Amino acid sequence: MKAVVLAAGLGTRFKSDKPKVLHELLGKPMLWYVVNTIRQGGIEDIAIVVGHGAEEVKKTLGEEFAYFHQENPKGGTADAVLSSVDFWRNSEDYLLIINGDSPLVSSDTIKNMQRFLLLVEEYEKVKLAGVILTSVLQDPTGYGRIVKEEGTDRILRIVEEKDATPQERNIREVNGGVYMFYVPYLLEALFKIKPSEATGELYLTDVVDYMVSKGYEIRSFMASDPTEIVGVNTRWELSFAENILRLKLIKYWAQRGVTFHIPETVWIEPDVTLSRNVEIFPNAVLKGKTKLSKGVVIKTGAVVEDSELGEDVVIEPYSCVERSRVEHKAVIGPYAHVRDRTVVGERSEVGNFVEVKRSRLGKRVKAKHLAYIGDAEVGDNVNVGAGVVTANYDGKKKHRTEIGKNAFVGSNSLLIAPIRVGNFAYVAGGSVITKDVPDEALAVERAELRIVEGAGKKKLK
Ligand code: UD1
Ligand code: CA
Repeated sequence: MKAVVLAAGLGTRFKSDKPKVLHELLGKPMLWYVVNTIRQGGIEDIAIVVGHGAEEVKKTLGEEFAYFHQENPKGGTADAVLSSVDFWRNSEDYLLIINGDSPLVSSDTIKNMQRFLLLVEEYEKVKLAGVILTSVLQDPTGYGRIVKEEGTDRILRIVEEKDATPQERNIREVNGGVYMFYVPYLLEALFKIKPSEATGELYLTDVVDYMVSKGYEIRSFMASDPTEIVGVNTRWELSFAENILRLKLIKYWAQRGVTFHIPETVWIEPDVTLSRNVEIFPNAVLKGKTKLSKGVVIKTGAVVEDSELGEDVVIEPYSCVERSRVEHKAVIGPYAHVRDRTVVGERSEVGNFVEVKRSRLGKRVKAKHLAYIGDAEVGDNVNVGAGVVTANYDGKKKHRTEIGKNAFVGSNSLLIAPIRVGNFAYVAGGSVITKDVPDEALAVERAELRIVEGAGKKKLK
């Protein structure tokens, strides 16, 4: 089976400068969800009908799809399908057609619809002209209504809201925008239907009426979860759909042994992977390809992006970890920033207002207050005092700092890179270090301290 995604609409109700289908839910464009669903539903041969913002759509999704251009941006959904006719016309199979603004459809539904067609053929000896995903909604406003032959699953017509009679508007079963049509019948029907009187558009939904008039049979397939069919026409519907998706992800991980405290405040993206006994506190944000091992605790307001956290790592409140790796039992924060391919070794502690950039910290390193560690290699057991700064930038270039294992770097010292502080070396607090400190040496750089008895009180008079 091939698939066609309809993504050429103007998205007028979205009031956006960029194509509606590229707006993001949990960090991924709407269309990403649609093509993912199709692929996981077992269909690889995918065409996307583009129009408004075509170049941007192609650039975002890449070369792996066939693209077809819909010339008339107000042509309607049937016109969009026709724009891709060269992609599917020679097929003797069913064709999956799916709205690009239906990001919540599940891959199981796609698989089940395919199975349904086969089962009907095998057991009832009926070759269906099509199957359409439907759902019964409390409030069907905005969706096409499904008119059925009473007491059966046979669809007779789909009536768009704008063209519906008050009676038809009361129907609560709606069109989910996912169709599988038998290609020879679809081809015939698409060339026969007429534009809507209300809008002038060619409606894909009108092929149903035509097919039924020819004696072909179309059935409904009810979504197992009514939220799957949510269409995103407005910004508000985008927020709504994103929220459903988010809660589904949270539920998925909760079922696999993750605790979420106040889940309605947690942001989690689809490529994040969690493990058992992970615990997530309110307002946590987990982004990109983040991976959390067993027992990780993410406290309030922490942001973790494209990072890997080892077992039992704790991210204290309001800390950010980006594109980095934190190993077993290390503690980050509160209010720390770890970024850009940093590795924080086992049991290390990066504490209050410490920033670590593109550095590698060994095991049991302690940098607990107010430090900047950039472009540095820090050995095991190093103590980095409060206020230590690696001056890695000379105004033109970045330079590296190396601190050997078991070294002690006293508070408020400044290490001017490139520089090496040796193993077991001791840098006294307040020193500006401009030369390498050999292993086991002491480095002190301070102006002589003068104490003048009585002079203090005199100044204060
Ligand atoms: C459509 C269905 C409606 C269904 C609903 C489900 C029709 C006529 N109506 O309505 O029965 O309940 O989806 O969400 O199909 N598009 C194009 N070219 C066009 C017009 C639209 O590619 O000329 C694309 C859009 O980008 C969008 C999709 O087709 O991704 C659906 O179009 P939209 O205008 O949103 O249709 P609805 O009014 O939501
Ligand atoms: Ca829509």
